[in-house]
This record gives sequence, structure tokens and C-alpha cells, in this order.
Amino acid sequence: MKRITLWDKEFEISLPYEEIQAAIKKMACKMKEDLEGKNALFVCILNGSFMFAADLMKELELLDAEITFLKLASYSGTSSTGEIKELIGLNENIKDRTVVVLEDIVDSGHTIADVIAQITRKGAKEVKIATLLFKPDALKMEIHLDYVGVVIPNDFIVGYGLDFDRRGRNLKDIYTLVK
Ligand code: IMP
Ligand code: MG
Repeated sequence: MKRITLWDKEFEISLPYEEIQAAIKKMACKMKEDLEGKNALFVCILNGSFMFAADLMKELELLDAEITFLKLASYSGTSSTGEIKELIGLNENIKDRTVVVLEDIVDSGHTIADVIAQITRKGAKEVKIATLLFKPDALKMEIHLDYVGVVIPNDFIVGYGLDFDRRGRNLKDIYTLVK
């Protein structure tokens, strides 16, 4: 198994690039059926979702889709702080629109709950949630996820957009912290 070191921690490959792409293709097929003709606005949650959003949008090929970005931060080191900071907000008029939130991972659920509340408050017609990764054992609230790429154990991971203290986002595979 391939291992890497980021700062003082060791990580082992757990989800190779090809498996990530297969999950994204599957998700794109389902999404295309649901969203065709809806002029959906995709909201990519930065920083973590940039690779997922780019690969998903390329697979989707929806001619009436639009994409925008919301920059949030809640993680510090290897655990969620629970406090969500908004670094770049949403400026689009989302009233009466179908909004699809693209998230890298749903962990405690705090971030996504916050985003759903914000988009609902702004008057969206429907809010759909798509997450590449989901850690059900870490979830602390009731949340409906419309599209889930891969269900993973409650371990800290990096790669494919996800970081450990700013490092590892550029890796094409996903790695799990070696305990
Ligand atoms: P939540 O608010 O606890 O659900 O955390 C969601 C955010 O924390 C995600 O959007 C990620 O950016 C980050 N996050 C959650 N789990 C991990 C992880 O295992 N590695 C790196 N970042 C993570
Ligand atoms: Mg994120």
C-alpha cells in the first residue's frame, strides 16, 4: 500500500483515483436524469470540493447548468471546530431556483446544515445535496443527502481536495491517516 507523510503524520492510500472517478460517473448519470431542463445552480463549497466539482461538472454536460462558489472553513488540524466561518459568500439571486450543493465530505454535518439553512433562507425552490464522501458514524444531526459518492469509515482522510493543515489537497488519490 502506498504511504505518504504530510507534516508529522503518515497516511495510507484508501480510495484510488479510478474508484473516485467511477463514483462520480455514477452520480452524474443519476443527476442528469433529475436535473435536465431545471436550470440548476451548482454551489461548490471551497476549498475542499474543487476537484470533485470540476470532475462532476465535466461528466454532467448539462447545457443549462450554472456554477458558483461558496468558501467556508470549519476544520483545524484533524478535527472539526464546529464553528463555520464564511470567507466568500453567495451573491447570486437564488430565489425560486433549483440549487445543488457540491460538498467534498459530510462529517459531523454542521457545515452542510449551515449551507442548507442559508440557501433555504434565500428562497431557493429546492436544495439538493451532493457529497463525494460521507462518514455516517460521525454525523451529529439529521440530514437528507440526495447524492452520495462513497460511504467511508470515521477516519481522517486527505487528498482529492481534502487537506491536513493546508497540505494534501493536490493529491489525486485519497489517503487515510495511519493510527
Ligand atoms: P462537518 O461540518 O463536520 O460535516 O465537516 C465538513 C467539512 O470538514 C468538510 O467540508 C471538509 O472540508 C472538512 N472535513 C471533514 N472530514 C474531513 C477529513 O477527514 N479530512 C479533511 N477534511 C475533512
Ligand atoms: Mg468542505
